[in-house]
Amino acid sequence: MRYYFAPMEGVTGAVYRRTHHEYFPGADKYFMPFITPTAQPRLTPRQKRDVLPEENAGVPAVPQLLSRNAADCVWAANALAELGYEEVNLNLGCPSGTVTAKGKGAGFLADPDGLDRFLDAVFAGCSVKISIKTRLGLRDEAEFARILQIYNRYPVFELTIHPRVREDFYKGRVREACFAAALPQSAMPVCYNGDVVCEGDAQAVAARYPSLSAIMLGRGLIADPSLVTRLRGGPRADRKTLCAFHDALYSRLSERFGDRRIAMLRMKEIWFYHLHLFGENEKHGKQLRKSRTPQEYEAAAAAVFRDLPLLDEAVPRWFRPAE
Ligand SMILES: Cc1cc2nc3c(=O)[nH]c(=O)nc-3n(C[C@H](O)[C@H](O)[C@H](O)COP(=O)(O)O)c2cc1C
Repeated sequence: MRYYFAPMEGVTGAVYRRTHHEYFPGADKYFMPFITPTAQPRLTPRQKRDVLPEENAGVPAVPQLLSRNAADCVWAANALAELGYEEVNLNLGCPSGTVTAKGKGAGFLADPDGLDRFLDAVFAGCSVKISIKTRLGLRDEAEFARILQIYNRYPVFELTIHPRVREDFYKGRVREACFAAALPQSAMPVCYNGDVVCEGDAQAVAARYPSLSAIMLGRGLIADPSLVTRLRGGPRADRKTLCAFHDALYSRLSERFGDRRIAMLRMKEIWFYHLHLFGENEKHGKQLRKSRTPQEYEAAAAAVFRDLPLLDEAVPRWFRPAE
C-alpha cells in the first residue's frame, strides 16, 4: 500500500513537510495545501515560498490548485510542470464557506456541467498528470454518481475520495457505504482519505478495499507523526524523537517567519492534534492553548514531553458527532 500525507492549510507547509520527512520517513507523497492561481500568470512570492522545488528538496511533494477557472488552472499547472513537478492535484473538496461561496472546492461539485467543461479545458491544456481530491457532493452523497461519471471521462491520474459531503465539514462518520459503492465504478486509481488515525484503521481500510492505490492521512498523521513510518515497518517514535522533531520544527518555523510568536501560533495548530498522542493531557493542553509569549509556549511544550504518558496511538478527540 502507498501512503500519502494529506494537504492541511495552515499546518503542512514546506517547513513542516521537510522536517516531517526528515524525522519520520515513509510517506510516498506529501500533498501541498492548495494555492489559488489568479488571472495574472505568475506565482506570488508567498506561493513560491511553499511550492518552489528548493523549498521541497528531497520531499516527494505534489502541488495542489484550487480554482474554478480553467485558464488559470492551465497556466498554473503548466508553470508547476516547468518547475519539475510531474503531478498537479485539483482541490474539489474544500468545505470552507469563503471557498464554496465562490463555487470553488466542494462548492464546484454543485455544478456538474460547469465541472465537466472545466475538466475538458484543463485536460486539453495541461501537459502534466492531473489528480483530483474530492468529496462526495455538496449536500447529498447521491450527487456522487453523476460526479464520478464526469471524472471517468478524463485521464485522471488518481482520485482521492474523502467520503463526506461539504455540509459534513469534518464531522461525524465518513460515508463508508457510498465510498464502497463508488469504488468499483471508478475508471481511475482511487486513494481513500478520512479518519485513519492508527495502524489498525489503515489495515482495516486496506483489507476492506484491496483495489485501492493509496491511503491518505491528515489529522491522524499530525497527531502521531511516526504512524506511516510504522505502517512501513519502521520504528515507533519515542519521547526523545518526538521532542527533537518538535524543537527542530519550532526553530525552523521561527527562522522562516522571523518571529517566534508566529511560529508559536503555527505550533498551536499542530498541538490541536498532536496533544492526543499523550494521556492525561487536559491541564497541559490548557497551558499550551493559553500561552501568550514564546517563553510561555516553550515551557508548556517542554512540560508535555517531560510529564505526560506517551500513548501507543492517538485518541482522536477532534472527531465530533455530526450536529
Ligand atoms: C486545518 C485543515 C486544513 C486543510 N487543508 C486542506 C487543503 O489545503 N487542501 C485539501 O485538499 N484538503 C485540506 N484539508 C482536508 C484534509 O486534506 C483531509 O482531507 C481531511 O482532514 C480528512 O482526512 P483526515 O481524516 O485523515 O484528516 C484540510 C483539513 C484541515 C482539518
